[in-house]
Amino acid sequence: MKLAVFGLGIIGSRCAENLQSAGHEVVVWNRTPKGLENEAGSAKQAAEGAEVLAFYVKDGMALRAVFSEIKDQLRPGQVVMNHATVDLETTRWMAAECAELGCGFLDCPFTGSKDASAAGQLVYYVGGSSTLIEEMRPVLDATSKEVKVLGDVGSATVIKIATNLISAQVVQALSEALAITEANGVDRQLLIDAVASNACGSMLAKMKMPLMVAGEYDTHFSVENMRKDSAFALELAKSAGLATPGIAVANEVMTRRCAEGDGDLDFCAMYRQFE
Ligand SMILES: NC(=O)c1ccc[n+]([C@@H]2O[C@H](COP(=O)([O-])OP(=O)(O)OC[C@H]3O[C@@H](n4cnc5c(N)ncnc54)[C@H](OP(=O)(O)O)[C@@H]3O)[C@@H](O)[C@H]2O)c1
Repeated sequence: MKLAVFGLGIIGSRCAENLQSAGHEVVVWNRTPKGLENEAGSAKQAAEGAEVLAFYVKDGMALRAVFSEIKDQLRPGQVVMNHATVDLETTRWMAAECAELGCGFLDCPFTGSKDASAAGQLVYYVGGSSTLIEEMRPVLDATSKEVKVLGDVGSATVIKIATNLISAQVVQALSEALAITEANGVDRQLLIDAVASNACGSMLAKMKMPLMVAGEYDTHFSVENMRKDSAFALELAKSAGLATPGIAVANEVMTRRCAEGDGDLDFCAMYRQFE
């Protein structure tokens, strides 16, 4: 298929490569040019003639900005897939814009980070027409190991935000547990081992704890991007009239880390609150 990929950050750059390797014809665009052979000179140029437009930009603001730039270029029948984690309002806005233009739209965020995207092993959460999801399988399969069909547009955005609410708070809990372990003179490796065989253990704990202890914060998913997702969770909670103090604290911690210059580090640098 003829594809346009917008946003060549940690994930978009790797997905674009996998889409090309799978035999799709891929044109890419990034706000900051990358000097790639298949890179379009403008977002409009990338959109022109693409059967599918896949977005891996940062957030709702970025998505709205790029979409507004290419809107005049879009024609009925083109399919827009948003893979970025954005606020629910932006997902609904984009679905309405696409419907007006006669374009298909899938609300299609994902889980899986730098390594999973490099290996084509993401897991997509998808909301939208089941017929369109099936039509898009050849595109989704090239970058993922699983496609979870969740229902209407909006459902995938909510689930993605909810899962990141959990991950942010798990890393906050791991940070606190490591900090009190060390402060009480106990080797932090003992905590890592104990968590591994405890019901509180998880893939995330296994992945992040050794890195936190080593102080290695090579970015798979940034503090800044996790902070924005915590803000989306707080918005969802507020609009539902819910108090969610856990994610409010994690949001404060991440906001402080960003202010102190850690925004581009991996989000397990939340642990640096104790340095
Ligand atoms: N990394 C992960 O593990 C992971 C996992 C699940 C979901 N996600 C979500 O997937 C999306 C991409 O993640 P990522 O880790 O690849 O992010 P990233 O490395 O921070 O890249 C962000 C991308 O968005 C672009 N961008 C930012 N602001 C823009 C604007 N105003 N207009 C146009 N483009 C703009 C950036 O362009 P420049 O190069 O010009 O800055 C860059 O291409 C995010 O929504 C993130 O929350 C990521």
